[in-house]
Amino acid sequence: MIPAHGGRLVNRMADGTQRDELLAAAKSAPRLTLNAREGADLEMIGVGAMSPLKGFMNRADLDSVVHKCRLANGVVWPLAVTLSNKGVDCKTGNTLALEDEGGNLLGVIEVEEVYSYDKDEEAQGTLGTADDAHPGVQYLKSIGDQYIAGPIWVLDLPKHDFANERRLTPRETRVLFDMKGWNSIVAFQTRNPIHRAHEYLTKCALEIVDGLLIHPLVGETKSDDIPAKVRMDCYHALLADYYPKDRAVLAVYPQAMRYAGPREAMFHALLRQNYGCTHFIVGRDHAGVGDYYSTYEAQDFLKQYASEIDIEPLYFEHAFWDKKAGAMASSKTGAATEKEDKIFLSGTKVREMLRAGERPPVEFTRPEVADILIESMASKAAV
Ligand code: ADX
Ligand code: MG
Repeated sequence: MIPAHGGRLVNRMADGTQRDELLAAAKSAPRLTLNAREGADLEMIGVGAMSPLKGFMNRADLDSVVHKCRLANGVVWPLAVTLSNKGVDCKTGNTLALEDEGGNLLGVIEVEEVYSYDKDEEAQGTLGTADDAHPGVQYLKSIGDQYIAGPIWVLDLPKHDFANERRLTPRETRVLFDMKGWNSIVAFQTRNPIHRAHEYLTKCALEIVDGLLIHPLVGETKSDDIPAKVRMDCYHALLADYYPKDRAVLAVYPQAMRYAGPREAMFHALLRQNYGCTHFIVGRDHAGVGDYYSTYEAQDFLKQYASEIDIEPLYFEHAFWDKKAGAMASSKTGAATEKEDKIFLSGTKVREMLRAGERPPVEFTRPEVADILIESMASKAAV
């Protein structure tokens, strides 16, 4: 089985007497509220999906990540995983209770450092831009100026509004792959319903590995992305009719989108390694938003780190419907050379059709998926 990134799979889920002791300590500790992204990060750290991280980053790690794409100890790591202060008076050595926005206790942090970091510098380094229109920059500017660093222990995982279905931890996916006898597993990250282009990538990958983990991101996304709950129905419908029953599994990836393009592609890959995957799909403009990253920037970026990353990215070119071949293709596999012989899926166009109650053509999306999306848009419009 592939090792966790950094060597060992972290476990910061408290249990037994340790949990009892931490619960007691949390009662009298000052309480810090986590926003949705921080709550998701807490979960990912707790279950080991963020190995080797054991908590929220200190200044040395953050600075090294921003400028060198590495933790301070040299291990490759692309994105900030920080906890913002919301006005709690604390200092090194304190223990804070961590709660969600509904006041539910999630865990504790042993405060190692309280610090601030220049937001433009952080944004430029991790997102490649400090433009206020970028959703990741907007997030950074929306949180407080102070970060609280330190190891955490998780007492209870955050509640998810789309039920806890298939919320497999890295330990659980590793057991599952083992039980299935899979030695090579490709992970597919997505924040969208699976359309024909996505299906093409996953099926090309399935030709060369033992199994597929469909691992949709279900944490916070932009308000115009399709809600995770609706997407889950789409994934189930697709798996039921269009994938081999014994070679594809669905589990949720409960993390927030950062829209960090190249660095997030690396992040997505490293975390899937922690889940036990050996391969990771990276297509066009992975984790991109607007025009901030070029089509294959994420791929070019990842290639520079190939010798330091165990999970193997599988790179795909822009996939389209090839009218000549009557099949999905890319420039590597298709016969079509003229623009008019290719049908590229346009997210905006698909959304317009769905909103109008029209099924997009099968060259774009499967009818079962289209119907679920049409219905969800109709019921959303009704409220
Ligand atoms: S995200 O993670 O990149 O934000 P998205 O759902 O848009 O999610 O895409 C999932 C994966 O499919 C990414 O690796 C992306 O690069 C790839 N992808 C999406 N559409 C296409 C396409 N038409 N051709 C090739 N790759 C694609
Ligand atoms: Mg995309």
